[in-house]
Amino acid sequence: MKATAIIVAAGSGTRLGFDVPKAFVELGGNALLWYSLRTIGAVAAIEEAVITVPPAMESRARSQVHAAGLEIPVKITPGGAERQDSVRIALGMTSVEAELVVVHDAARPFATPAMFAATLAAAERVGGAIAATPLADTLKRVGEVAGHRGDKDRSIIATVAREGLWQAQTPQAFRRGLLMRAHERAALDSTVATDDADLVERLGATVAVVDGSTLNFKITTAADLRLAELLAANPIR
Ligand code: C5P
Repeated sequence: MKATAIIVAAGSGTRLGFDVPKAFVELGGNALLWYSLRTIGAVAAIEEAVITVPPAMESRARSQVHAAGLEIPVKITPGGAERQDSVRIALGMTSVEAELVVVHDAARPFATPAMFAATLAAAERVGGAIAATPLADTLKRVGEVAGHRGDKDRSIIATVAREGLWQAQTPQAFRRGLLMRAHERAALDSTVATDDADLVERLGATVAVVDGSTLNFKITTAADLRLAELLAANPIR
């Protein structure tokens, strides 16, 4: 099994409130991006990587590749306007020799080599696989209703049955040809999705689900980053 990893790191991270793009924010003395690079370096099947970065961040990304001790060939490219555009650009740069492609958000520093290996193994069997976790909380559909004084109150419209609902994470692995077809179709249909599995599902292909982890959360807010700092200092194994 030959696999290429795509690490998407081209987001601006405006919700974090830093002036540096999110993947380059420091976490425990390293850039956020470094964590994903170090992790893929421990996955034997991954023989190449493509990283998408914000404009003019290529050399800083290259420094992170060195700092992570990544010894496989690594291509670095500016990303696109949306995450999906970034993946499409990176996909176009993957080696034709790669049977599988595994896509991962640099904003998830605590994915493990085992998650990469499990998604790749399942993708080899069925075509695609993602890491995910079952929902733990009760789900409410919430809307705004007019309050007594004409102001808007937030309230529950309905409780959504939680059974069978999972939260999608990355890594997400696919046979390369399948993911390429999914992105080509999305471009033709102007489909915009928030993850790659969605585009593959639209082709009617099977996407397996392997165990992610609540520790594999995506850093979005300043509170997420604070939590990540605590975890980086005290890893939970
Ligand atoms: O913005 P969000 O955190 O949901 O983005 C998920 C991942 O996609 C991040 O790692 C981010 O760097 C990446 N991304 C990208 N290109 C974009 C937008 C986001 O590579 N245009």
